[in-house]
Amino acid sequence: MSAPRLALAPGLLHVPGYLDRDAQARLRDAVRAVVRAAPLFTPRMPRTGKPFSVRMTNCGDLGWVSDEAGYRYQPFHPATGAPWPAMPDIVREAWEALAGHPHPPQACLINWYEPSARMGLHQDRDEADLEAPVVSLSLGDTAVFRFGGTERKAPTRSIRLASGDAVVIGGASRLAFHGVDRILPGTATLLDAPGRINLTLRRVTPPGRPDAPIGGPP
Ligand code: SIN
Ligand code: MN
Repeated sequence: MSAPRLALAPGLLHVPGYLDRDAQARLRDAVRAVVRAAPLFTPRMPRTGKPFSVRMTNCGDLGWVSDEAGYRYQPFHPATGAPWPAMPDIVREAWEALAGHPHPPQACLINWYEPSARMGLHQDRDEADLEAPVVSLSLGDTAVFRFGGTERKAPTRSIRLASGDAVVIGGASRLAFHGVDRILPGTATLLDAPGRINLTLRRVTPPGRPDAPIGGPP
């Protein structure tokens, strides 16, 4: 697959149509298998316990979770206690094609957006290894994705992320603020219900230091 790569900012790449329709269907089916083994859960904000509007699950060695105790990575599902399912091949292949990083991803967070769900502007900074990028894959309805600079007050702009699009958040933009303003229901036919799936692939610990700190209460 040789989709064009558009630089949105240094280190921040948009790859429209990275996954063709067949690859999107493969990834959708792989996500369904993950969700059967590791059901979607509703994360809660640190301290306040306010629920997020997205639901989530993970695959890979580590998964990102959030509750009253804080944001963190952990090797097991917060409700079932089971290890996260293995990362599907198509997810690893996307990392290899897009990350430009010599070590494999350790965590893949899967977010499910109902049509009314959104995600406020934030930085991905719970990883001890900030050398590796975050690679994002989108399936289903188009999202209005907002991004800015590495300081909250920097100006922001938005782009639309369609089914099959990839984004790479790395280099000078690794700590760029980003979020999802809204979902545009009815813009895709890949999923049975209106909504959007986003996968974010990350490295969490520096190579050779598997016991390095992996986040914790902020
Ligand atoms: C995230 O920042 O975790 C998700 C971004 C997206 O849904 O595109
Ligand atoms: Mn993020």
